[in-house]
Amino acid sequence: MERMVHIFDTTLRDGEQSPGASLTSSEKLEIAKQLVRLNVDIIEAGFPASSPGDFEAVRNIAREVKGPIITALARAVKSDIDAVWESVKYAERPRIHIVLGSSDVHIQNKFRRSRDEVMDMGVAAVRYARSLCPDVQYSTEDASRSDKNYLFKVIESVIDAGATVVNIPDSVGYAVPAQWGRLIADIKRCVPNIDRATLSVHCHNDLGLAVANSLASIKAGAQQVECTINGIGERAGNASLEEVVMGIRVRQSYYRAATDITTSQLCPTSNMVSQLTGLALARNKAVVGENAFAHSSGIHQDGVLKNRNNYEIFSPEEVGAIGTTIVLTARSGRHAVRHRLESLGYKVSQEELERLHSRFLAVADTKKEVDDDDLRAMMSTAETLIASRRL
Ligand code: KIV
Ligand code: ZN
Repeated sequence: MERMVHIFDTTLRDGEQSPGASLTSSEKLEIAKQLVRLNVDIIEAGFPASSPGDFEAVRNIAREVKGPIITALARAVKSDIDAVWESVKYAERPRIHIVLGSSDVHIQNKFRRSRDEVMDMGVAAVRYARSLCPDVQYSTEDASRSDKNYLFKVIESVIDAGATVVNIPDSVGYAVPAQWGRLIADIKRCVPNIDRATLSVHCHNDLGLAVANSLASIKAGAQQVECTINGIGERAGNASLEEVVMGIRVRQSYYRAATDITTSQLCPTSNMVSQLTGLALARNKAVVGENAFAHSSGIHQDGVLKNRNNYEIFSPEEVGAIGTTIVLTARSGRHAVRHRLESLGYKVSQEELERLHSRFLAVADTKKEVDDDDLRAMMSTAETLIASRRL
């Protein structure tokens, strides 16, 4: 039996931290409404203590957006927690999200306190947040570089203090999938009260492993995964929501998990986020990139025209993409050329196709892509030639 994995979208918080991606309050609201259509479980709307504008943006989203849990980020200090609560308390289902480092790197270089002192700060912050809100998430920042036994102790203590969700971040993208999956399994095995909280992960992409690490933790039993649309976020970004969701969906029998995401909204959401943040997508971006369903080589085009299953593991319709495209280049074969000609209304015999294909290759060698106008021009010359031969 599959278990449901909750999708926690942090496009409006971690994603918006991408250099050059900042959003206005109304743009954030527009994206939040689209995230509702996508059917995410949790929206992290911002970091209210960071600026009055962000406080306002989070409050608008909490007031207007119905359906998902609405949360926002606080450091483990009273003023941040108050700012989160004052902005999210209008939501149908508010959550306070607290973050505090658990690695010695952060404890020594950021907080300059002892491990125990930092743990006490976290516990006090959770207790205070729970006095305001029934749903409190605690993130052990830089978990992947933390001492395991200390990490387990922190998790146990914050759950005892009332945390309902514990989120294990690979804040600097240091983890590798097998080891990261083992850490999640060890947390489930070694933290005695772990069943009283939802176990979540948050992976960064510094080594290009954010999605792989997120999927490894789902396999190991994580119940919530944090991600962003198009994988935007601090530095090299976060795990991309569309890749995580389609990974779970396409390999459902391996992960034995499912999400509630309306996958046909993936491309529309991706386009909206790209336009509003100004962060362009790579053409070859998995799932939502322009090339995700574009076939260029003759072998692939022939295969996909015979049966899409040959070279597509999910359909463009499933993710709301325009459709399969056959890109005509010098690598294209006769099947693809005939197919495009037919879509333009031309019928050609095998013999004509042979002649046309060599002319097609001569044109294709001079440019990156042969377009419909090139084909029409080739056909009108071919028809003139045939007509002149008939005279
Ligand atoms: O990367 C990180 O550790 C974070 C936390 C706030 C979850 O973004
Ligand atoms: Zn992060």
